[in-house]
Amino acid sequence: MDIKGKIAVMNWKCNPSSKEEAEALAIASDMDGVIICPPAPFIEAVRNKLNKAILGSQDGFWEEGAFTGEYSFNQLASVGVKYSVIGHSERRWLFSEDSNLISKKVKAAIKAGIIPILCIGEKERISEPEAIETVLSQLMASIKDIAEDDMENIIIAYEPVWAIGTGKNASLKEVEPVILGIIEYFKENFDKKMNIIYGGSVLSENVKNYMISPYIGGVLIGGSSLNKDKALEIIKIIRSTI
Ligand code: 13P
Repeated sequence: MDIKGKIAVMNWKCNPSSKEEAEALAIASDMDGVIICPPAPFIEAVRNKLNKAILGSQDGFWEEGAFTGEYSFNQLASVGVKYSVIGHSERRWLFSEDSNLISKKVKAAIKAGIIPILCIGEKERISEPEAIETVLSQLMASIKDIAEDDMENIIIAYEPVWAIGTGKNASLKEVEPVILGIIEYFKENFDKKMNIIYGGSVLSENVKNYMISPYIGGVLIGGSSLNKDKALEIIKIIRSTI
């Protein structure tokens, strides 16, 4: 399920409160190039409202069986999920998921035919070389069991944790070198061309900055994806800049 051009991934996190609100939000964001990741209880309701946007999930589990509260990537695939956010910083820091556990999820998602949107990002604002080193080590640990042939089937979401939900987005000057560092690493070591998106306080006021970069494949949007007008504005800006 390949999307041409830049993508907008809508991560609704644990929002909204009701199925009706989720359906209304889905209808408002149903445009080409958009991937909508609702909370698990609303996945089917949202899927039924989408004609152009593609269905995603916010997580998934690598196995089936006696794992109360979990749901597998195969189960997600069977209800139409094409992309899964994996290793989001909220999972890493609030739910203690480490890169070893995340690597199992990435592998299982690929096996189920789901494209992982693998999140990485440094926690605090650090220097550019430190940020590149931190995210590369997170990334390599999170894909340690992935065959080289599958690497290009992963979307990498670079989300500096300090920029998430703070209104303090990382500037293009801060984001581009880190993304380039990842791109160059994969080119040199594996001869692979990676697709990398940015996330962290993306707003209609700043989204254009990222879209003009040839190295940034799209954006991962949290808070702004929950407001119909703001989400639509962001999608329109993305479409007008590609
Ligand atoms: P915000 O856009 O609210 O900063 O969230 C970013 C994010 O975590 C998307 O996954």
